[in-house]
Amino acid sequence: MTYRVIQWATGNVGVHALRGIAQHPELELVGLCVHSEKKAGRDAGELCGIGETGVVATHDTDAVLALDADCVSYMGATDFRLNDAIEDMCRILASGKNLVTTSFVPLVYPPAVIPQIRERLESACRDGGTTLFCSGIDPGFSPDALPIALSSLSERIESIRAQEIFNYATYDQAETLFEVMGFGKPPGHPAPLLLPGALTMGWGPSVRMVADALGVTLDEVRQLHEVVVADAPFEIPAGKIDAGTVAGLRFEVQGIVAGEPRIVIEHVTRLRDDIAPHWPRGNGPGTYRVVIEGMPSMRCDLDIGFRSDDHNVDGCVASAMRVVNAIPQVCRAEPGLKSWLDLPGIAGRGALR
Ligand SMILES: NC(=O)c1ccc[n+]([C@@H]2O[C@H](COP(=O)([O-])OP(=O)(O)OC[C@H]3O[C@@H](n4cnc5c(N)ncnc54)[C@H](OP(=O)(O)O)[C@@H]3O)[C@@H](O)[C@H]2O)c1
Repeated sequence: MTYRVIQWATGNVGVHALRGIAQHPELELVGLCVHSEKKAGRDAGELCGIGETGVVATHDTDAVLALDADCVSYMGATDFRLNDAIEDMCRILASGKNLVTTSFVPLVYPPAVIPQIRERLESACRDGGTTLFCSGIDPGFSPDALPIALSSLSERIESIRAQEIFNYATYDQAETLFEVMGFGKPPGHPAPLLLPGALTMGWGPSVRMVADALGVTLDEVRQLHEVVVADAPFEIPAGKIDAGTVAGLRFEVQGIVAGEPRIVIEHVTRLRDDIAPHWPRGNGPGTYRVVIEGMPSMRCDLDIGFRSDDHNVDGCVASAMRVVNAIPQVCRAEPGLKSWLDLPGIAGRGALR
């Protein structure tokens, strides 16, 4: 059976989902929704670098919602338009189409999403008899599904630390880097991601997902961060980093058990490889690492794009395919908000070709 799928948004992640859907043997691309005026009217294949598909991009959301489709793959922006993105998702779900998404990352573990948003989405699922699944590589895989899978090898666990150790210099998203994460701003600038509770909102659900899978009760979830500044100005594709402004960011979201941080997600984000040499280092510019202390002790390194020109592109492909590959299972699932704990069998069917 093939499932009829609409791609919604073609940004850094969405463009790869579009290509993934068009090439997937169990999926048929039947629609494409874009926000950009410049992309409307163009063939989907042209936008994602494959041959003509016959599917033409539109920014008429009502026309998209009227299409006959089993699922929408939604990768619309969420920075500074969270309410609009949730509204888009509710309209899609209520229209009778299942939804996979990388947008609004706390949805990787719906039980930990703030009730006002969770209840809106649950209500839309009930109205449409539909299912929502949110994932990606981080969160969605490396700090939650991967440690949970590794924990199946454990007799005893003292601590779990899941790290993203990445150089973001080639991440083509100026607004996220500068306005949301605070790169290129003076230290102490109130970047939205670093405000009290924001990191916990983003990655806390992954900590909760690991804790729940392990049957552990968390006392609380805490966040901390530190930054380093550039000692000299330099350029990245998204803009300029002045001397004295933020060029490196390290944060932790900590699941506290019996007063100790026992389940920790850590991101080490540099814009140049030589920044903050005292912070953890990966094997190259893009490493996801899970360290489990206990019996046995384990370290698992996932080097994304290890032989690619741009590991950030590979990371976006991985995030997109994590949800595209889930579409057949999501379409077969019972209605409601699902996490990977509900749909553990996701695999890259058709990817070996
Ligand atoms: N879990 C993970 O591993 C992971 C990884 C990366 C990203 N994400 C999340 O995935 C989502 C997409 O990320 P991205 O990097 O692809 O974002 P992006 O490059 O900013 O693309 C988002 C797209 O949203 C559309 N858009 C922009 N402004 C809009 C507006 N005002 N109204 C409606 N649509 C608008 C545009 O689509 P068109 O270009 O088609 O017009 C744009 O390309 C974000 O929420 C991000 O946080 C998750």
